[in-house]
Amino acid sequence: MKGLVCAGGEATRLGELTRVTNKHLLPVGSWPMIYYPLQLLQLAGVREVLVVTGKGHAGQMIDLLGDGRLSARGSDEPLLELDLTYKVQTRPGGIAQVVGMARDFAGDEPLVVVLGDNIFEHAHADEIAAWGAAGAGARVFVKEVPDPENFGVVVYDERGRVVDLAEKAGVVDLRYEAPPTSDAVVGLYCYPPDVFDVIESLRPSSRGELEITDVNRHYAQAGALSVVQVRGWWEDAGKHWQHLAEIGRRIDETGVNKP
Ligand code: DAU
Repeated sequence: MKGLVCAGGEATRLGELTRVTNKHLLPVGSWPMIYYPLQLLQLAGVREVLVVTGKGHAGQMIDLLGDGRLSARGSDEPLLELDLTYKVQTRPGGIAQVVGMARDFAGDEPLVVVLGDNIFEHAHADEIAAWGAAGAGARVFVKEVPDPENFGVVVYDERGRVVDLAEKAGVVDLRYEAPPTSDAVVGLYCYPPDVFDVIESLRPSSRGELEITDVNRHYAQAGALSVVQVRGWWEDAGKHWQHLAEIGRRIDETGVNKP
């Protein structure tokens, strides 16, 4: 398996904090935000990871992460032991565009994608390994949320199978006036090598982006999407500056990227 961390985008929601740095370099607890998705991939057994960053501040990202082998400051204790490759997304054209940029990097290998602002209590290594061993289809993770209008959500039929997905229903996906369910698709996705053909067939959404939700809908409609419930808490750290400190406290209380 290979890994991808999506760390581009414009991060305007974080206001003054992202004027001179990339959102994914902001502190969450004692680490820069991007350490958490990278650690998740490492715990899932992925070693080769592509980091896609935006044009602004790409140099800072490379200064911080280097080749992917990092020790805790002032000690020899390894923090990350990854093999990193970088690419620059010059215009934020959507998460599916970023995944498409991994085509040559991934080759014929399955790809585990983590959004650079998503942080998990559990690393879900077993669920990722089980998907890798099954060797077919795509896998997404879902969590019930109080504000589904801010996320992609899954839609089930009466037998509980996923028949559709909607991105920010009523805002981006105009087929729905309001979110049809509260089960948000979180920023951890597992794709087989044919994902790149799926992305090539996509059209931009109403907000002009290639939507990862459209990729997931393709697999759902082909009966090739497995949906796993997130264990423990999950946070999208990119929403509001107040959230950064709250998530840091939560990490202190419960731990992060646990088995
Ligand atoms: O957090 C989970 C949600 O993430 C999902 O439920 C949604 O389906 C998915 O679209 C996404 O929604 P967001 O509105 O939170 O996406 P955001 O624009 O914040 O981008 C998420 C991450 O992806 C962020 O770390 C930056 C990166 N990104 C985003 C875009 C649009 C890129 O690297 N390039 C991009 O063009």
